Amino acid sequence: MKISIEDLNKVYKGGNWALKEINLEIPNGMFGLLGPNGAGKSTLMRILVTLMKPSNGKVTINDHLDLMKNRREIRAMLGYLPQDFRFFAKLKTWEFLDYTARLAGMKNKAKRHDAVDRMLEEVGLFEARDRNANRLSGGMKRRLGIAQALINDPKIIIVDEPTTGLDPEERIRFRNLLSQISTRDVIIILSTHIVGDISSTCENMALLNKGKLAFTGSPEELVREAEGKVWLIQATEKEYLEINEKFPVITTIPSDYGWEIQVVADQINGYYGKQIEPNLEHAYVYFMENKLNQWITA
Ligand SMILES: Nc1ncnc2c1ncn2[C@@H]1O[C@H](COP(=O)(O)OP(=O)(O)OP(=O)(O)O)[C@@H](O)[C@H]1O
Ligand SMILES: [Mg+2]
Repeated sequence: MKISIEDLNKVYKGGNWALKEINLEIPNGMFGLLGPNGAGKSTLMRILVTLMKPSNGKVTINDHLDLMKNRREIRAMLGYLPQDFRFFAKLKTWEFLDYTARLAGMKNKAKRHDAVDRMLEEVGLFEARDRNANRLSGGMKRRLGIAQALINDPKIIIVDEPTTGLDPEERIRFRNLLSQISTRDVIIILSTHIVGDISSTCENMALLNKGKLAFTGSPEELVREAEGKVWLIQATEKEYLEINEKFPVITTIPSDYGWEIQVVADQINGYYGKQIEPNLEHAYVYFMENKLNQWITA
């Protein structure tokens, strides 16, 4: 599978420019879309699942399917979990999933019921199968959302902030479920603003900020970009206040000297400190605060 995005722009009515000149190739496997609130993640996803048209640009699947022209074929390949996934009506949990499976074209009743039970098992909802779906807890509703996105073996799985509201155990379980699926001939795109969701699962990723692509590559490559830019400073109380004004501070720990402060910066002129190895969180902050500011002011 392959998704190719060329010169994609989205301007909402009212002039909100949500995506600017996006060029991106998404290969097989798990792809992480990382970015702060309002970056354009959901907008990009809604375009990819054909719910919204871009203002201009082109999206091609497997080199021959055009998102604008082959909507029906593409829809049949898709599984989607919207960020604000909600459901209606008084259906039991299994009935809801059965209903979405029927919508997705699974006609054979026996096979469908099997698939529904298997899926409920996989997302840990089998025990709750006879419960009214709109009475499930927030996290359980999220899991039902994940189940409805995966029920008909989609080739392209697009999940918008899938781990919101999941407890740590469920988060891990969900990650493992997606990892397993990602070994097949599928693309899984997941959006998040949680750096930790990306590092452990995604081979490839993109960083979106204010509608622009700030980085694409592997999480390891992103981390390498921040090499030499992360510092551990020994600071006095007075210096701490100054440093807080000057640099993005990652962590602050009290020490004998006053404070031990991790910052992201090109230079820390005048302060006593040393460089330390960057991690993904450092790299994210570096891109969001430093690099981009340079670009904007340049
Ligand atoms: N229907 C809409 N009409 C007008 N502007 C919109 C609409 N939906 C989103 N926007 C704007 O487009 C920009 C991108 O929004 P989007 O929802 O894609 O961001 P996001 O990265 O998903 O953010 P979040 O992490 O908060 O979910 C924001 O400035 C937002 O206000
Ligand atoms: Mg969003």
